[in-house]
Amino acid sequence: MKMEVERGVQANIGSLSHSNEQVEPEAAVRTCHNGTVSEIPTIDLNDPDQERLTGAIAEASQEWGIFQVINHGIPSELINKLQGVGREFFELPQEEKEAYARPRDAKDIEGYGTRLQKEAEEKKSWVDHIFHRIWPPASRNYRFWPKNPPSYREVNEEYANCMRGVVNKLFRCLSLGLGVEGHALKEAVGGDELEYMLKINYYPPCPRPDLAPGLVPHTDLSSITILVPNDVPGLLAFKGDRSIDVNYIPNALIVTIGDQIEILSNGKYKAVLHKATPHKEKTRISWPVFLDPPADMVVGPLPQLVNGKNPPKYEAKKYKDYVHFKLDELNKKWLLF
Ligand code: SIN
Ligand code: FE2
Repeated sequence: MKMEVERGVQANIGSLSHSNEQVEPEAAVRTCHNGTVSEIPTIDLNDPDQERLTGAIAEASQEWGIFQVINHGIPSELINKLQGVGREFFELPQEEKEAYARPRDAKDIEGYGTRLQKEAEEKKSWVDHIFHRIWPPASRNYRFWPKNPPSYREVNEEYANCMRGVVNKLFRCLSLGLGVEGHALKEAVGGDELEYMLKINYYPPCPRPDLAPGLVPHTDLSSITILVPNDVPGLLAFKGDRSIDVNYIPNALIVTIGDQIEILSNGKYKAVLHKATPHKEKTRISWPVFLDPPADMVVGPLPQLVNGKNPPKYEAKKYKDYVHFKLDELNKKWLLF
């Protein structure tokens, strides 16, 4: 039921407004913790056949809105370090983490926050988080970057730098898959001003996951989200009326299509509905990076894709207005912030 409610929010918004080591793709078909075979597509980003790669990314974005990428070029050692420094931060005493708390009336979302205590619809939420921008360099506000562990900053800067190749490849393939020029989508979300907003979700073990939602079903506001998980299951994606566990593939990145790409593609690519739940005995941690257009950027269906026969399905809006409207709707339902 919840899923329908959330889909409703999304549908309303839509209509209102509109490692260097090589992994064999075969090895990516794994069995999930509940015994079912995950059907989320796995894509080899190093496929030398550009047409095949573009086709695979476009098809996955159309049919699923979520896929995993392997052979993406980000070294596994760096991903391990990213996970290590993030975990160390969340294991610090509460008062040390609170030093990075998002100021009470801040307009921006950067900073540390906890939802372990708040109640939403009589259920306790079960996740801590921190947000801070990691790219472009001018967007970084180090006030919200943990100083402990000391290597946190260097590791996160290196990760941001390494992500750029993956980001550019994804945007290029998504553009070509729409039949527009390779640079079209990246430019439409801000080009070099595109912001990489890192979030770390920290879900401690939860004795009753059925009573404590981690993250309620939602689609991401971003253009694309690129997520590093740890090895604890908990991410679920919806396809039609089915929900599918996203299986863990070491060193793979999980790519989700967000609202802005659905809008720019005039509905051809689908923002995926997904949710995350805590685990009974283990700590789940995830590192999504939301690729956000600059706040004042107006995002609407690409003009190349609309004509008399294919009218725009979404209204063009400044990204900040879109965010404001959607978060307002979600907050009313779920007390998200
Ligand atoms: C998210 O939807 O932002 C994160 C989901 C996860 O923890 O895997
Ligand atoms: Fe999400």
